[in-house]
Amino acid sequence: MRSMPTQPGTLIRPMAEADLDAILAIEQASFSVPWKRDHFAHELSAPYSFPFVAEHAGVIIGYVCLMSLFEEAQILDIAVAPDQRGRGIARLLMDYAIIVAREKRAELLALEVRSTNSSAITLYERCGFVRTGVRSKYYEGRDDAVLMELALL
Ligand SMILES: CC(C)(COP(=O)(O)OP(=O)(O)OC[C@H]1O[C@@H](n2cnc3c(N)ncnc32)[C@H](O)[C@@H]1OP(=O)(O)O)[C@@H](O)C(=O)NCCC(=O)NCCS
Repeated sequence: MRSMPTQPGTLIRPMAEADLDAILAIEQASFSVPWKRDHFAHELSAPYSFPFVAEHAGVIIGYVCLMSLFEEAQILDIAVAPDQRGRGIARLLMDYAIIVAREKRAELLALEVRSTNSSAITLYERCGFVRTGVRSKYYEGRDDAVLMELALL
């Protein structure tokens, strides 16, 4: 799969096994219940998974995990290193995931986000996602999950 040059010096490219230490550090800094190495290793090997990283000056600064199976694609995970946020990196990763989902002939891109995560919800709304439902007390039996979708057709 191709890599995409973005802002000067920032590259979006497929995730590789050698990226996992840096990814796990960002993941642990970003989530109260972070994914473990096995989750990312699975994404690297699964036939319908398309994980990407954003790299700047040889350093991993963010990543997105996309799954695309037949007509439906899903964003499974996205995070940006805390010291790199607010610079448009997540937007680049989302725009790239949307391009890849379209290439895979997905008709719909879906995701779930914690209802208290206003920065992520705003990011997804900026990308064109709309709210389609709520899963009550989905996260740790406490926070609701907001379901969001983007039509790709
Ligand atoms: C959510 C997250 C991925 C955003 O990454 P980022 O690189 O800072 O986002 P960007 O700079 O690309 O911002 C894109 C848009 O998102 C929204 N956004 C991002 N951070 C925001 C914040 N703190 N407050 C409000 N809106 C925010 C804005 O609309 C922004 O567009 P704008 O600058 O044109 O207004 C990042 O905060 C993160 O890694 N959080 C922890 C992990 C997480 O919650 N992931 C989502 C799980 S569902």
